[in-house]
Amino acid sequence: MRLMASSAAPHVGGRVGARWRWTKLLPLLVAMVVVGEICFLGRLDVAKNAAIVQSWTTSYIASLPMPSSKRSDVGKEEENCREWLERMDAVQYKRDFRVEPVLVSDAEQDWSSCSVGCKFGKQSDRKSDATFGISHDPLTFSVHRSMESSHYYLENNLENARRKGYGIVMTTSLLSDVPVGYFSWAEYDLMAPLQPKPEDAFAAAFISNCGARNFRLQALELLEKSNIKIDSYGACHRNRDGKVDKVQTLKRYKFSLAFENSNEDDYVTEKYFQSLVAGAIPVVVGAPNIQDFAPSPGSILHIRELKDVDLIAARMKFLAANPEAYNQSLRWKFVGPSASFKALVDMAAVHSSCRLCVHIATKIREKEELSPDFKRRPCKCTRKGATLYHLYARERGTFDMESIFLRSDNLTLESLESAVLEKFGSLKYVPIWKKERPESLKGGRELVVYRIYPVGITQREALYSFRFKTDDELRRHVETNPCAKLEVIFV
Ligand SMILES: *[C@@H]1O[C@H](CO)[C@@H](O)[C@H](O)[C@H]1NC(C)=O
Ligand SMILES: *[C@@H]1O[C@H](CO)[C@@H](O)[C@H](O)[C@H]1NC(C)=O
Repeated sequence: MRLMASSAAPHVGGRVGARWRWTKLLPLLVAMVVVGEICFLGRLDVAKNAAIVQSWTTSYIASLPMPSSKRSDVGKEEENCREWLERMDAVQYKRDFRVEPVLVSDAEQDWSSCSVGCKFGKQSDRKSDATFGISHDPLTFSVHRSMESSHYYLENNLENARRKGYGIVMTTSLLSDVPVGYFSWAEYDLMAPLQPKPEDAFAAAFISNCGARNFRLQALELLEKSNIKIDSYGACHRNRDGKVDKVQTLKRYKFSLAFENSNEDDYVTEKYFQSLVAGAIPVVVGAPNIQDFAPSPGSILHIRELKDVDLIAARMKFLAANPEAYNQSLRWKFVGPSASFKALVDMAAVHSSCRLCVHIATKIREKEELSPDFKRRPCKCTRKGATLYHLYARERGTFDMESIFLRSDNLTLESLESAVLEKFGSLKYVPIWKKERPESLKGGRELVVYRIYPVGITQREALYSFRFKTDDELRRHVETNPCAKLEVIFV
């Protein structure tokens, strides 16, 4: 950010300024032509003159197709308003991403399945929209991407990355601009069926390095002291031959020690997801918010701090001795995980590179929406005391927006959801995760809304904290954000 301000920013300011002056001049030119015409008409008598000017203005207004107010039928009124808003609010964007895809300078790759034109590579005839690393061009986003913990790589900390000048951050943090998690349906056969648990030892551990910036080694030792027998396949406390298939091995155990190397929110790696695949209950040292990643409530054990170890050890012993309770913890394997878990993992149905392109294209559009052409959009239509609001919605992970409409006399959370379902239903819309999810979780053809939230908030908020809490809150949002843009998570 500081780089932008110091070097080339004045240049950009100049260019934007030039365009701005031009648009300011335009009405003036039109006015001059009109005045000129009136002067020419000056020879005619005043009455005629006035009539001509008036006809000019009325024909101008007539060319703006206003919704008819004569019809009495309320349904017709609303339909007219819809048509009018669709037309009036449809300001053309300067850039068509199908013709001019988002260009990210990196190794050559076409993301042709992306919902927005998205190309990685170089093009001699135009500037990249983004680059990995710090860009010295203020029109090119600087992107930082890493899947490591910020406790080891300090620049992965969001604030540090921003301070360094990264406009777009892609890390495991769900607060980052384009999260790059380890979770995905494609990578992990999460619904793989359970297998018998023949091992005597309660738990398997694959910990390659005893050193870590958390207490995972102490936790391991304390569990052993509590008489939890652990088979360790990694270099740390190894007591078994490590040359085995990890997931196949984990399947044979009741529990899996998913001990990360740092306790950082959302930093949840393959250790954890492999345990879920294997149907070995994960015993976690790691992300403080690991419960947000649980496939269902009560399906994982979390050692938050060392003093939890006794309790967790007792719980492991109880579950191991009670097949029904143990089976209950893995119930999600039979009935499917929670909506919250599906909504999390579905994010990865769209590749992070494509999500990056969607993010960039959205930013480019938002910048353009600040221009007068967009500010002039009506975004609402008032007839006989009732107002119809025009909103836009898209599925998370996609780019193009669909129009939805809400009436002021029925501006409720319920009607927002039904407007979304009606719209996407009428399009026979297929959620983007449909191809990715395992067969048993694909669901039927009906759409189910999990969340609706404003475009631009973080995935942490979207998934776990943001809600339009009341109808009033929704109303305020709609009233203060003309042509509000929303994102929908279907489950
Ligand atoms: C475990 O629970 C599922 C349903 O939740 C059931 O279908 C299955 O038979 C149970 N297995 C055992 C071994 O009890
Ligand atoms: C308000 O919207 C809801 C959901 O779309 C609908 O069920 C209800 O009938 C509407 N009420 C009125 C008064 O239009």
